[in-house]
Amino acid sequence: MKIFVDTGSIKDIESIAALGILDGVTTNPSLLAKESGDFKQNLKRICDIVKGPVSGEVTATDFAGMMREGHDIAKIDEHMVVKVPLTKEGIRACKALAGEGIKVNVTLCFSPAQALLAAKVGASYISPFVGRLDDISTSGMSLVGEIVEIYRNYDFTTEVLVASCRHPLHVVEAARLGADIATCPPAVIDALFNHPLTSIGLEKFLKDWEKAQAVKA
Ligand code: E4P
Repeated sequence: MKIFVDTGSIKDIESIAALGILDGVTTNPSLLAKESGDFKQNLKRICDIVKGPVSGEVTATDFAGMMREGHDIAKIDEHMVVKVPLTKEGIRACKALAGEGIKVNVTLCFSPAQALLAAKVGASYISPFVGRLDDISTSGMSLVGEIVEIYRNYDFTTEVLVASCRHPLHVVEAARLGADIATCPPAVIDALFNHPLTSIGLEKFLKDWEKAQAVKA
């Protein structure tokens, strides 16, 4: 399963990329709004670091505006993926952009019916938001399971990009369900590494080693 980081922070992207586990980046207007500098230059820098898919979202809500912004985003770098919202206009723009060979990530997906529409218009990625569904007492992971099942039934090539991951269990469950990608904030990626027994075990190994060296000295 691929791991993407969900952030606009170049510093965080650099340090996670250095670990060798990073396959791509997702951004959204809220995340990019937190960063200083020109957003297109920032996205270019992110592409240079990651050399994998980087999603940049349109902010227009009408078809013509989405197409215009989509073309601008796609021009930034060959790795750019245009993110459009799951609205009628977004689905229409997805069909048109995908028809031009531009990769599209359809975002803000909260139902299997919406995911089916995105696959039908050639989306490269569908982004179900699991955390935001959990927030309203609806199982985000059930949605991921339904989408994976539907896409397998028809051999759709749209990749299931599990978004709005809030903790490591979201990533593990996404992997168990056969989702293609989990996109996580830097803190969640950090948490994937942690296990108390790893820290305790390492501490004991090092102490035993030091003790043995002291006896030999
Ligand atoms: C995905 O592409 C979105 O940017 C993101 O995962 C949303 O996460 P949030 O619900 O934590 O804002």
